[in-house]
Amino acid sequence: MRVLFVSSEIFPLIKTGGLADVSGALPTALQASGIDVKCLIPGYSTVLEKVENITYLGTLEVFKNISCDLLTGTVPNSKLEVIIVKHAGLYERDGGPYTHPQGHDWSDNPMRFGVLSKVASLLSIYQSFWDWVPDIVHCNDWQTGLAPYYMRQQGLTDAKSLLSIHNIAFQGNFEQHWVKSLELSPKDFQIDGFEFYQQVSFLKAGIFYADKLSTVSPTYALEIQTEAFGFGLQGLLQLRSSDITGILNGIDTEEWNPEADPYLPFVYSEKKLSGKAKVKTALQQQLHLTVQQDAPLLGVVSRLTHQKGLDILIGSMPELIALGCQFAILGGGEKSFEAQFNAYAEQYPNQVSVTIGYNEPLSHLIMAGVDIFMMPSRFEPCGLNQLYGLRYGTPPVVSNTGGLADSICHSNADTILNNTATGFVIENVNKMSLLVTIKQALSIWKDKKTWAKIQKNGMKKDVGWKHSADAYVALYEKLLN
Ligand code: ADP
Ligand code: GLC
Repeated sequence: MRVLFVSSEIFPLIKTGGLADVSGALPTALQASGIDVKCLIPGYSTVLEKVENITYLGTLEVFKNISCDLLTGTVPNSKLEVIIVKHAGLYERDGGPYTHPQGHDWSDNPMRFGVLSKVASLLSIYQSFWDWVPDIVHCNDWQTGLAPYYMRQQGLTDAKSLLSIHNIAFQGNFEQHWVKSLELSPKDFQIDGFEFYQQVSFLKAGIFYADKLSTVSPTYALEIQTEAFGFGLQGLLQLRSSDITGILNGIDTEEWNPEADPYLPFVYSEKKLSGKAKVKTALQQQLHLTVQQDAPLLGVVSRLTHQKGLDILIGSMPELIALGCQFAILGGGEKSFEAQFNAYAEQYPNQVSVTIGYNEPLSHLIMAGVDIFMMPSRFEPCGLNQLYGLRYGTPPVVSNTGGLADSICHSNADTILNNTATGFVIENVNKMSLLVTIKQALSIWKDKKTWAKIQKNGMKKDVGWKHSADAYVALYEKLLN
């Protein structure tokens, strides 16, 4: 079975969040399950720098005035093959994959990701310079949402399309004039098409036209069909209900392995947890926090956005600081969150450390060095950090939503007794609920024997990709039958 896996970010080539982790690890797991998979990605400068063994495949006319080169190559330290859409004007710039160095979205994002989507559709038919034609085009998020539309519009392929929704809050909605330059049919600018509140919606197009849909956890698959979580697309998703599958993400257990993590000064395992305490000391030293084993250290590694519920944590911090908690915060995003976290760091330099920006090594060090990982998200399609937390013996405090609800078992007398407890679940995303849950966690944390039990329950969990990859293979098979 041949699968073209289309994504706007793939770790370790380019990453802004969990989508990259999934797009790096899932295709590799699919390969191990015997699927012939190739990834399609825009040729951002960093992708061109990092991909190895690059060769020129050919040139494609994508739209009337836009052609691009296709290159192939391999992801470093992996057998994963990528096809790169090379167009210097569209992709080779400073800044992020979606944003200008100053933070605002690139104004030509519709064209940048329209081209990606169109190339995906052309590769499902195009044979003039290549005989590799996919059976399935697996699209991910809004950036690839027009691909299923173009596949239908062309009507020249037998390939089936699957759209995986990683976050329905990001929809890629743009002004109507893009219909023309993206060569969409004006007749489909309507409710039964890609139109969404008078805009061209990439994500709606994907949801409307893809043969099947998936999301990244079973709970999120249900949540997005409700008004509270559907961001306006719940009605359409209800209509497509029988085509939606929720498959919980796995994690790359080699990249995230406390027994052999090159970013850690000390390694440790479920059988020998002592190294974790040493990492905590090293982390406290590095972040200039008071070096103290009996101060509970809470960690955050996150995009700093409303989704992640960190404003609730910010509101709870004075009380937690008064209780002696320390914080190791790493993230970037909304300026007001950055400023509020920074204000605490200035006021309590021995108890609060804030690092703004993206920092891969520190993210591993925090995951290993803190006692408790915080994820009070308002919604969380899957979430990966809580899974890293399980693997690193760092029980997470999570809200009761999406993939968090599907992956973390709240610690109480029963679940501790029957060895299923792995973390702490906040009932509601508000300050009171958060404080109650953190205080519960802190009281168990003081009982080292019970805490170690919870840590080990998490570390024993199989959070790798095999199980989820099998579920994708089953879905692919269903698509082809
Ligand atoms: P989302 O994709 O919604 O941001 P996930 O939990 O699925 O959330 O994935 C986030 C990923 O990005 C994790 O691998 C996390 O470690 C990483 N990450 C987020 N912020 C940072 C940061 N500032 N520095 C390093 N890694 C980060
Ligand atoms: C999105 C979601 C996150 C999920 C990730 C990978 O960014 O916000 O919950 O883990 O995609 O699927």
